[in-house]
Amino acid sequence: MDPEYYAPRTHEKMKDVLMNPEAKGPDIHYYMIRGGKERKNITLWQTGTVDHEYIKTYGHYHVGNLDETYWIIFGEGIALLQKRALDKKGQPLDDEIEDFKAIKVNAGDEIYMPAGYAHLLVNTGKTYFVTADNSPVEFLDSVSQGGNEASMPGHADYEAVKKMQGFAYYVIEKEGKPVLVKNPKYKKVPDVQLK
Ligand SMILES: [Fe+2]
Repeated sequence: MDPEYYAPRTHEKMKDVLMNPEAKGPDIHYYMIRGGKERKNITLWQTGTVDHEYIKTYGHYHVGNLDETYWIIFGEGIALLQKRALDKKGQPLDDEIEDFKAIKVNAGDEIYMPAGYAHLLVNTGKTYFVTADNSPVEFLDSVSQGGNEASMPGHADYEAVKKMQGFAYYVIEKEGKPVLVKNPKYKKVPDVQLK
């Protein structure tokens, strides 16, 4: 494995989007191997919680009209998807969410992320959680952006999520079970229950 295809997501970076950024967590929250559309990307989540919040991916919107599929390979988790409202000029409002989905997923499930929906996945199980996905990896783009393509791909917009300290809901462990807790930074969020 060439090292440029591998990226760990550190606790330091995840502080941007945690419900409690001061809480202690594992040094690395999840591990990524980027193979792109053909070979697929593999992600592996740590187990556990950070001050009751389950280990999750950072989450991002896509730049442009790009959808994506995730295949759950191992473990159990919850996929969060959110779509922003638009202003009068058709620009997305980062703090107003018009649609929010929380979907329980298990090994063998496939989950479609439509264009326009930010997405992340949460490990709510006792084991590692592992997925494959088919988002493209543009290594050439990242060189021009000076970034690490495996860690922060050029097709993904992380800034809107960072600005809001995560998604509109956090997934929290309460009496051993996952529950959704609203992120108070958002102005408008639909009421959503975990099914
Ligand atoms: Fe994505």
